Amino acid sequence: MSDAVKVGFVPFSAAPRGILVAFCDEALKFGPATAKVLGQAADLVKRAAAASQFKGKSGAALDILAPEGLKAARLIVIGTGKETAALKMNDFLKFGGVASGKLTPGNGAMTIMAELPGGAMTDDQVVALASGLRLRAYKFDRYKTRKKEGEEGGALRADVSLAVADVPAAKKAFAPAAHVVDGVIMARDLVNEPPNVLYPEAFAKRAVQLRQLGVNVEVLDVKAMQKLGMGALLGVGQGSARPSRTVIMRWNGGRRGEAPVAFVGKGVCFDTGGISIKPAGSMEDMKGDMGGAACVVGLMHALAARKARVNAVGAIGLVENMPDGNAQRPGDIVTSMSGQTIEIINTDAEGRLVLADVLWYVARKIKPRFMVDLATLTGAIMVALGTEHAGMFSNNDELAERLSTAGFETGEKVWRLPLGPEYDKLIDSQFADMKNTGGRHGGSITAAQFLQRFVDHTPWAHLDIAGTAMGAPKSDINQSWGSGYGVRLLDRLVADHYESK
Ligand code: BES
Ligand code: MN
Ligand code: ZN
Repeated sequence: MSDAVKVGFVPFSAAPRGILVAFCDEALKFGPATAKVLGQAADLVKRAAAASQFKGKSGAALDILAPEGLKAARLIVIGTGKETAALKMNDFLKFGGVASGKLTPGNGAMTIMAELPGGAMTDDQVVALASGLRLRAYKFDRYKTRKKEGEEGGALRADVSLAVADVPAAKKAFAPAAHVVDGVIMARDLVNEPPNVLYPEAFAKRAVQLRQLGVNVEVLDVKAMQKLGMGALLGVGQGSARPSRTVIMRWNGGRRGEAPVAFVGKGVCFDTGGISIKPAGSMEDMKGDMGGAACVVGLMHALAARKARVNAVGAIGLVENMPDGNAQRPGDIVTSMSGQTIEIINTDAEGRLVLADVLWYVARKIKPRFMVDLATLTGAIMVALGTEHAGMFSNNDELAERLSTAGFETGEKVWRLPLGPEYDKLIDSQFADMKNTGGRHGGSITAAQFLQRFVDHTPWAHLDIAGTAMGAPKSDINQSWGSGYGVRLLDRLVADHYESK
């Protein structure tokens, strides 16, 4: 794991070490503990603010070098905006990210006064701040052999102390959240890994490592999948020299015998498009076509590591979509595990074929309370929603509502789009029960409509994460190509609604 900062907690009264970070509002007002640490330097802040047009806007930073009257070599003041009472958890993630972004190789320590002008931050706010710090500092540089100075093993190493009102309470509150951050980092690592390293079997091996946390992991090989009749998934993988895998992960932290919640991920380790081959431009991005599966593994890590009181199943379909003498052709008809037949029109619409069999497997064999699938499914979702929201499709209003709320809380936002029988005729086939593409219009909807045919009567939501899982613009809390999108969203969904007390 490419984790670059170590976060610890100290009392407000401890002497600050390294870079000092303080929060102020638009009146340039500090909290009492911070004002005490700053002493005379508070006046310096006023002068520096005037000189640099710093007005305390939310997330804006004022960077003062060698501040007079302070031991610290640098004082960084971060604005909290006008209405500090209206700040959301997401704002504190951002503040953590902004502070983290100020760390540079060479200055390895930082002390952050976790205090608002009105007083100490709450435990939840401190947790979000600490999470933002770690998320921002993540870097994927495993394959860079020339490291920069001050970067041990390539990653920036920094010790950050959060000065808080109640150290034991902050530590206790951060422990589970730190496992969730680990899950996000794990998902990012998987997305960032090159496709020659992370092929289906190698991915499955990483999932197997979850056994160390008490997760039951079952790996289905090609023979096992043939026996189950997973012809849709196997058709996608048949052109690759790397054999396909399906991995089922079970975490039983809830009541004995209670039906689990389930998460399903598209794991196309590389998507060339197959015989309907993609153009060369940016094809390298298709190493990230397993972002859904990466999220599911990261989420299972988070749930197991924090010992979530829930029964949860993660299921991922791992394939490589390659053109080859043995590859599937446009015109082929495959039989899915459900018995429904599919005419292949475009071998590049492969994700829905993989999910068809994994969704059916989960619906029928696991019988979950609900299932949520995540997939980098369509380019069309980026046309519709850009990189800010994932597309959400659901047959269940309650589940959709809960996902929307969790998205709002975590900043991993979703936007609901329609399903409807009217779209079915777009995927009718003249030779089989359905075809795998529906033409140019409503491309994300016809893909979701296709998936719905494989969920049986299970409450279900599909998240199209093609725009959010990778290649999104750099943000305050993510500087890497892979975002780990969905881990925090779904962990929150579980924590808010499905954990037994
Ligand atoms: N993996 C792609 C979708 C994708 C594109 C994800 C760009 C991330 C970035 C998917 O398998 C695909 O190729 N979809 C096709 C479907 C079409 C052939 C109906 C698409 O979106 O063009
Ligand atoms: Mn494709
Ligand atoms: Zn794909």
